[in-house]
This record gives sequence, structure tokens and C-alpha cells, in this order.
Amino acid sequence: MQQFSLENQSAYHQWRTRKLRNYPTCTEQLIVDIRNPYQLTQEEKNSLLQLCEKANLAIYRARHGDLQDKNVVTAIARQLGLIHMDANFCADRDRISSIQVLREGSASSYIPYTNRPLNWHTDGYYNRDAQRIRAFLMHCVRPAESGGENTYLDPEILYILLRDQNPGHIEALMDPEAMTIPPNPENSERPDLETTGPVFAIDRSTQTLYMRYTARSRNIQWKDSPACTRARSALQELLNDNTYRFRHCLQSGEGVICNNVLHNRTMFADKPRSGRLLYRARFYERVSSPDPANGMAHTDDVVAE
Ligand SMILES: [Fe+2]
Repeated sequence: MQQFSLENQSAYHQWRTRKLRNYPTCTEQLIVDIRNPYQLTQEEKNSLLQLCEKANLAIYRARHGDLQDKNVVTAIARQLGLIHMDANFCADRDRISSIQVLREGSASSYIPYTNRPLNWHTDGYYNRDAQRIRAFLMHCVRPAESGGENTYLDPEILYILLRDQNPGHIEALMDPEAMTIPPNPENSERPDLETTGPVFAIDRSTQTLYMRYTARSRNIQWKDSPACTRARSALQELLNDNTYRFRHCLQSGEGVICNNVLHNRTMFADKPRSGRLLYRARFYERVSSPDPANGMAHTDDVVAE
């Protein structure tokens, strides 16, 4: 993980060059057509894994098979090494959340379950380290009548943009006290939890960069230091203006698989009786790395529940 050490400039520059070489330039380059989501071909699997390796993000487009059944989510995920799911209180009993507009119930007051826009965030930013969300999969059963588009940004790219601008931003965002989510009954999906931690961290168990972020301003405490304030505002500016963002409005049978990249959502309007419905599962693992020998995922070391 030498590339993320501010002292080691040469490791950083080597990694940066590799990361930006042949980086996808449009959403179309992230899309993989799959024939049967319940049984991916080796080629389909390799394409999804390689995209996740390069950009931390891939979009599949399935046309056949039962694409309305929630089992499609676990079926695809397992084939990519995603096994252990996080449960939050809005999730269904199978730990998969049905993201749709809810008119009643405890989840109906949370923005994901309304048609309102969702600001930039990584999933589970309020989770403790032991429940780090390293990947998520979102599968579209029905899109909205209009709107509901997501924009994605690879946190490694954001790290590069910030470090190139000012390495001090990275130092401030790696501060273990950078961002605190205080307990608050109106706050997020974990109202009882207080979590303090960095925005960027090295995830020792996977030897990768981990990002924890929300652009919401209510109920979030940022470290009160000039360096942190500067870094936060540089981050916000970059989120809203850089050429590495991918926009996509998921259509029926499509889904996104990613290593918990930054994302947002535009507001949307539903059809009267068939509203937007997405299934979302969050995982403690990252998407498996492709095996250079044959492209197979390293699933052997993931223990099934
Ligand atoms: Fe999210």
C-alpha cells in the first residue's frame, strides 16, 4: 500500500500512471451484456471482474432469465465472490433492500425510499469498521417513468485528483477524527450509532483504499480544522466537476456492481401503479480480483455462510 503513503512519491506516481492508463472514458465502456445472470459465462465473468479491478465499477445488462426475482441478486453476487451481506433495518429479511417509494412504515422517511434526489455518498458511511461495506450490487426491476439517474465516481480517482491538487487534502481526509456521525434518531439507517473516522483509509484486510463519505450536511460533524475544511470543500468541488464521473439510468434487467464507489441519484417521477423498483445488496467483501491465469475469481478463500 506504499502508493497511498504521502512520503512515497514514486510508488504513488507508478500506481497513478497504471490506474489512469486506459481508464474507461464513458459509461458504455462499463456495460457487459450477459445472457443468463444465473450462470455467467467465463467471458462475461472476466469482463465484470476486470472492470471492477480497473474502475471499481461495472454495469451488467441481462435480457433473459427471471430478472424480477430477488434471487438474481444473490446469484450474480456469488459468482463474483460477494457472499456476506450487511443487514440494515430497512432491508428485507433476506438482507436485500427493495428500494422503492414507500408511503408508510419506518423506512418511508428515509430519502432512499422517497423520490427525492440522493446526494453523493458511499454506502454504510455510518457503519463501524467491522461492518465496512466494501461492495454493493443494485439490480433494476423497473425504472422510474422519468429521472432516477445515478452518477458514479471511483474513490481512487477522487484520491488522485485531490492528491494532485494538494497532498495536504489527503492528509486531512485520512485524519482518524475527520468525520463523525453522531447518534440521532433522524440520522441515516443506523440512528443509535456514533462513528468517528477518516474519509480515506487503508483497508488492511484487503490492502486497498477505502472511502467513507456523505455530502449531507445535517447531522454530520466535520473536524474543526482549517486543513479539514479546505479538503472538504476541494472534495465537494471535485465531485461536482470532473470528467471521470459515469452517469447511468438503470433499465429493467440492468444492474451495477461496484466496490462501494461514490454515487448519487437524481429525483424521479413514477408511473401510477408500477413505480421504480431496485434491489440492493451490500457486502463485506470486495468484488474478487480476476485471476491472471484464467480469469477465475478467487472465491476459494471466501467462506460461505
Ligand atoms: Fe447508496
